[in-house]
Amino acid sequence: MPLMEPYRIKVVEPIPILTRAEREAAMARAGYNPFNLRADEITIDLLSDSGTNALSSAQQAAGMLGDETYAGARSFFRFRKVVEDLTGYPHIMPVHQGRAAERILFGAVLKPGDLSISNTHFDTTRANVQLSGGTAVDLPCAEAGNLDSRDPFKGNIDLAALEAALAGPDPVGQVIMTVTNNGGGGQPVSMANLAAATELCRAHGVPCFLDAARFAENAWLVIQREEGWSDKTPHEVARAAFDLADGAVASLKKDAIAHMGAFLAIRDEALAKQCELVLTATEGFRTYGGLAGRDLEMLATGMEEVVDPDYLRSREDATRYLGELINTVGVSIVEPAGIHALYLNAGRLLPHLPPHRFPGHALATELYLAGGIRCAELGSLYLGEEDAEGNLVKAAPYELVRLAIPRRVYTQSHLEYVAEILGEIAKDPTSVPGYRVVESPPLLRHFNCRVEPV
Ligand code: F0G
Repeated sequence: MPLMEPYRIKVVEPIPILTRAEREAAMARAGYNPFNLRADEITIDLLSDSGTNALSSAQQAAGMLGDETYAGARSFFRFRKVVEDLTGYPHIMPVHQGRAAERILFGAVLKPGDLSISNTHFDTTRANVQLSGGTAVDLPCAEAGNLDSRDPFKGNIDLAALEAALAGPDPVGQVIMTVTNNGGGGQPVSMANLAAATELCRAHGVPCFLDAARFAENAWLVIQREEGWSDKTPHEVARAAFDLADGAVASLKKDAIAHMGAFLAIRDEALAKQCELVLTATEGFRTYGGLAGRDLEMLATGMEEVVDPDYLRSREDATRYLGELINTVGVSIVEPAGIHALYLNAGRLLPHLPPHRFPGHALATELYLAGGIRCAELGSLYLGEEDAEGNLVKAAPYELVRLAIPRRVYTQSHLEYVAEILGEIAKDPTSVPGYRVVESPPLLRHFNCRVEPV
């Protein structure tokens, strides 16, 4: 079937179109940090696929049915039923977003000194492991290290390394499987890898949880790419993945196609009771957990909509199409294209810029200056290490830029526009300047730093 969005547009929102001079002024004011731009300065926003999605008319209608009763709201029971059907877990807690689920779960599971092992911890997942006194260890599979290889499941965990860690001297408190692997190029995890990882965990008595923010997108890629799964529905594959694990945290700002919300779902009753105490103290009573009744309704409807094969097929097609256009204009991406984002290989496009001139950041900034496209680097500005004088002493392994694609928001012509702007930059890459840091906070530098072109 040709590329086509399986929905039509009923409500529109104008997007700002600025002149180059206006964009230059906005970027200078923002200290050349895209996080400091204002929405009314941005034409196409590819900073995140989280909470940036377009609601369906059915979700909006469901929102009108939201029951705002303090305890025991109807909307909670509907939300719980949908999550129960999806996960099979008996204990389900709504929370306001994914990181709240992480904080509550890890606080109950991890003891100081424990290791948390993952295919790749997402930033907030790593931070919450550390806040619980644990140490986060990423064990991505070997294929993940080759950006150009088209291995279908580069999101997998390295099973031999996982087995060695589980048998090693340091206590392992938990294993977290992130599906899809956002920190690892948005690549999917195979069911075979998940089954083998959870079996190792069981053999060593260590709980294994899913970070299931993109559960439907991972399921869809399993159906497309893994032998033995092609005749299953996305709901069946997602359920099979949850069946393998002991529980899950899931930011619903992604695959519930909504703006806010998450769940913490657990098999073990004692652990769930412990989590529920913290939930009540810090998020809200167990039947709302920091969310309004209308949110719970819209999330429930979104989780039903997201497993529609027509929707998932069109989303995969759109991302792959943009990846192909980007390749055609001479820019490499982390192969193969996933679903929620494309990761541009800025290091390869801008070889004249060494890591301490931040090629990823330079490309992200140029995309804004040339076309009002906002995105963020995943390179040495974010992941590099510096000495006391601010000199980069350890570069990131790759200089990447993530183009995250909000759900149901941009059409094919918006994606073509992005590729066209990238093509203009790729015609004359040596004209793209590098950057140096002029102001850097002690923590979370990429969010708050100011840089300038050199
Ligand atoms: N886990 C993964 C895999 C994520 O991608 C995110 C968020 C979270 C957990 C945290 O969830 O934002 O609801 O607290 N990712 C966003 C992104 C921010 O842009 O990739 P949250």
